[in-house]
Formats: sequence, C-alpha cells, structure tokens
Amino acid sequence: MKIIYPGSFDPLTLGHIDIIKRLSRMFDEVIVGVLINDSKNNLFTLDERVDIIKKQIEEDELKNVTIKSFDGLLVNFAKMEGIKLVARGLREVTDYEYEKNIAMFNSKLYDGLETIFLLSNPKFSYISSSGVREVARFNGDVSSFVSEDVKSRIEEKFDN
Ligand code: PNS
Repeated sequence: MKIIYPGSFDPLTLGHIDIIKRLSRMFDEVIVGVLINDSKNNLFTLDERVDIIKKQIEEDELKNVTIKSFDGLLVNFAKMEGIKLVARGLREVTDYEYEKNIAMFNSKLYDGLETIFLLSNPKFSYISSSGVREVARFNGDVSSFVSEDVKSRIEEKFDN
C-alpha cells in the first residue's frame, strides 16, 4: 500500500518528522509530496525544502520514503502517481475543520481518493511551520520545533 503525505514543509518540523516515521511503519511506500508554492512569505525555496526532507529521511534510514514535488492540485499529483491514499496530521479541532473540507474537495475531484488522518503526537501538537517562520524571522530559538539541520539553516539564512 502506497500513501502520499503532502504539505508545504516550510520548514519541516518535528511534528512532520513524527508523522513521516509513523507512516513509514504503516505503509509499504510513502511519498512525501512537497507543494511548489512560490510565495513571498516562504522561508525556504523548494529545493531547500526538498533537501531538508531528503537529509532527514537518510538520517532516520526510512528506506520506503521518497520525496517528490508537485504543482497545482494534489489530486492531479495523486493521479499521476496512481495513488488514491493521502495522509494528513491533525493537531487541533481547527485542523479538523480545515482538513475535512479539503478532503471532501479532493474526494469529489478524484473519485475514490481517501484521506486518512493521524493524530499529532501531543508533544508536537502546537508546532506549526508558520509559527516556526515567525520565531525565525525575529531571531527566536527554534530548537524545540525543528531538527538541528533546519535550525542551522535558519541561522545561516538570517546571518546573511
Ligand atoms: O503544509 P500545508 O501548507 O498545510 O499543506 C497544504 C497542502 C499542500 C496539502 C494543500 O494546500 C494542497 O493540497 N494544495 C494543493 C492545491 C489543492 O489540491 N487544494 C485542494 C483543493 S481545495
């Protein structure tokens, strides 16, 4: 069974890493789908986001996880990959409201597409990429939210 775990991953957080590891144990193959979104608010470029995830997966030796980027609709990416299963993490009820809507749009757009939700590990349930970006921009300490690699990349970025 193959599953897609999509997101912006700007940046990859400890919460994302936990979900990827759990999916890797549950499914034969996990494709991390990185959304190509060129927004002014981005902290990392697409290449950097992909590179960060690749390094993490190598470090954690998750042999059944691969990374791909996609543009436009998630359902088109899923169709191209021939996969009808998508995973998303749920932190709070507000996530559920947002995610439920997207999942319904997606199943309408791609008949048979299922979205499954993994409850976030409570240790990480308050962590969001947008929160990390905000802390990073104001030179706050991000070490409780991201890996050492992401932390040092953030430091490099704001030193320059
Ligand atoms: O990490 P994020 O930003 O919460 O991930 C959101 C993502 C990438 C899963 C979602 O925005 C997405 O799938 N975007 C692609 C466009 C799309 O298919 N939208 C759903 C129909 S409303």
